[in-house]
Amino acid sequence: MHTQWIHIDEKEIGNDASKEAIRRAGAVIRSGGLVAFPTETVYGLGGDALNAESSRRIYAAKGRPSDNPLIVHIADFSDLSEIVEQIPENAKILAAKFWPGPLTMILKKSDAVPSATTGGLSTVAVRFPNHPLALSFIREAGGYIAAPSANASGRPSPTEGRHVYEDLEGRIDMILDGGSVGIGLESTIVDLTADIPMILRPGYVTEEMLSGVLGEVHSDRTMFDVSDGVKPKAPGMKYKHYAPRGELSVVSGDSEKVIQYINDKIAAKKKEGCRVGVIGTSETIDRYLACVKKDIGSRSNEAEIAHNLYEILREFDDENVEYMYTEAFDTGGIGQAVMNRLLKAAGHRVINV
Ligand code: TXA
Ligand code: MG
Repeated sequence: MHTQWIHIDEKEIGNDASKEAIRRAGAVIRSGGLVAFPTETVYGLGGDALNAESSRRIYAAKGRPSDNPLIVHIADFSDLSEIVEQIPENAKILAAKFWPGPLTMILKKSDAVPSATTGGLSTVAVRFPNHPLALSFIREAGGYIAAPSANASGRPSPTEGRHVYEDLEGRIDMILDGGSVGIGLESTIVDLTADIPMILRPGYVTEEMLSGVLGEVHSDRTMFDVSDGVKPKAPGMKYKHYAPRGELSVVSGDSEKVIQYINDKIAAKKKEGCRVGVIGTSETIDRYLACVKKDIGSRSNEAEIAHNLYEILREFDDENVEYMYTEAFDTGGIGQAVMNRLLKAAGHRVINV
């Protein structure tokens, strides 16, 4: 299959060429094909959410296990009622506050949504993204786009059109490339089918932001701790996602001790002839002795750290790094989402110094 790779600059959205590209992308979806598109979080791999065959194609293109449900993306709040059994009061409150935006809600699904889209579950994940290209595309395609992140299964989520091309070229019909995404980590997922809303995946919309409008909110404890072998509630969170090819360890503790520990490890591994990489911050990166060093951004700018993480994990793969060490990050705000993704990438290998 030939994959059309179409670039649409932010400034070009709304001009005739971009309208024509989006019209063609919509036609691809309506005929059962697959189109990758940017959102404010990461790139999505879109298919018609109401067409079981399209969802099967998404799983095949990504190499994704078919019990891992897809998120349905909408572009108008009034479209929600078609795909859910009913809209609970707390969903209306969250939508008013956070949609369009990086928040996914789990609700009871209606019969309009095929079980191929929801991995056999009776619930559906719904998101109303905040990205002009995504919204025009979703509307043009009929209003309901099933989209997982547009990476090959097991790779970090794509934050640039070229990441999608690297992973899925020849496996999908089209890439709408809108350049670099804003946030860089996937949406927060909150399950509203439980008595008390439960966060299944942390993201830009934090627990504090949610409890600020809903009152009590719980978090799935497997997001940070898998030691007791409990199963995560979002099926996708059980897979070793975002995993770089080499072995990543998170080193946590006093900054000076962390630097010392990592430099000792680097020296030992280098002696063994291994390629070693390190993720540090703008404040610390010059202190490391690794051959491959990645500055993830300033500790004072968590948004920058979130935005750079996946790109860095991809670079490590490209540079054939065998062992990687990263500093730990605060678990408040978006830092919580950064740590959740890092822990998964590291297979929960954490060293406390
Ligand atoms: O930011 C995002 O959410 C991106 C962009 C493209 O919108 N999408 C994304 O999709 O991250 P994906 O498929 O990579 O992750 C979806 C997660 C998986 O962990 C999946 O198991 C969970 O959502 N999920 C989907 N439907 C669910 C359901 N009904 N109940 C529980 N978890 C669900
Ligand atoms: Mg994903």
